[in-house]
Amino acid sequence: MTDRITKAVIPAAGLGTRFLPATKAMPKEMLPVVDKPAIQYVVEEAVRAGLTDVLMITGRNKNALENHFDRVAELEATLEAKGDTAKLEKVNESTDMADMHYVRQGDPRGLGHAVLRAQMHVGDEPFAVLLGDDIIDERDVLLTRMLDEERKRDASIVALLEVDPDSIHLYGAAAVEPTDDPDVVRVTGLVEKPAKEVAPSNYAVIGRYVLKPEVFEVLRHTEPGKGGEIQLTDALMEMAGDIEGTGGVFGVVFRGRRYDTGDKLDYIKAVIQLASERDDLGPELRPWLIAFAAGLSRD
Ligand code: UTP
Repeated sequence: MTDRITKAVIPAAGLGTRFLPATKAMPKEMLPVVDKPAIQYVVEEAVRAGLTDVLMITGRNKNALENHFDRVAELEATLEAKGDTAKLEKVNESTDMADMHYVRQGDPRGLGHAVLRAQMHVGDEPFAVLLGDDIIDERDVLLTRMLDEERKRDASIVALLEVDPDSIHLYGAAAVEPTDDPDVVRVTGLVEKPAKEVAPSNYAVIGRYVLKPEVFEVLRHTEPGKGGEIQLTDALMEMAGDIEGTGGVFGVVFRGRRYDTGDKLDYIKAVIQLASERDDLGPELRPWLIAFAAGLSRD
């Protein structure tokens, strides 16, 4: 049994090369999804799950990320003078949300390397990792469930999503065994971005983790893997096989809505889906979308 987890680590130091040139001078985590940067959705999710101590791993172009969660005195004063309280509220939404901390990754040597940068801040306690470009729809529960499982099983927890076999090569894939809970599996192996033919399953690892601090020692000796990067998947693979030493790894199967905003097509789908469901935009957007799609099918 462990105490309640309070720390979230959000890696946001990747180069975002799939989104160039938009990400040339701006982190991909700052791309707006409707009217909020992706990273704000992620921090909001952490806070909703009770994780109010947030450490962001930043890289080059970090200023935009830090500024977004900081005060903007000039803008606040202008809106206040105009009496525009609605917009002022929007500006302040991201300011007091969490206790924000930042650490630089330096060279982006992979997700495992980014997580290792959190060791000093996290110390010897379990913690959550939320990828800064991965949005989980707020109507679907995932992180809270993962935190519960960590407490119950005293093991590291990954989030798994069943994907089409044709896209498993884009993810880490998990070999799994059932447990007595249909939503939870034991992870027996992990492979980063496997070819469809050798993938151990269609269970893809998505961007939420609850990790025991033993992960840091494992990451210290994890050699660069796929793409020459230090892969978190490789460290978790070792932990999955070392139940005595690290508690092993379990997976919570997620059946809800998830948007990978680091991928162009998924990003576009996220903006359309979330905007069409909003009260302020949906009523005008939905009929336009239907007419637009009808026009496409006539061509
Ligand atoms: P991705 O693999 O999606 O990020 O990492 P990337 O390398 O920026 O993507 P592309 O392929 O070049 O477009 C998932 C998450 O891990 C972070 C990213 O910022 C993203 O939130 N990350 C990745 C780091 O913080 N550091 C790294 O070295 C790599």
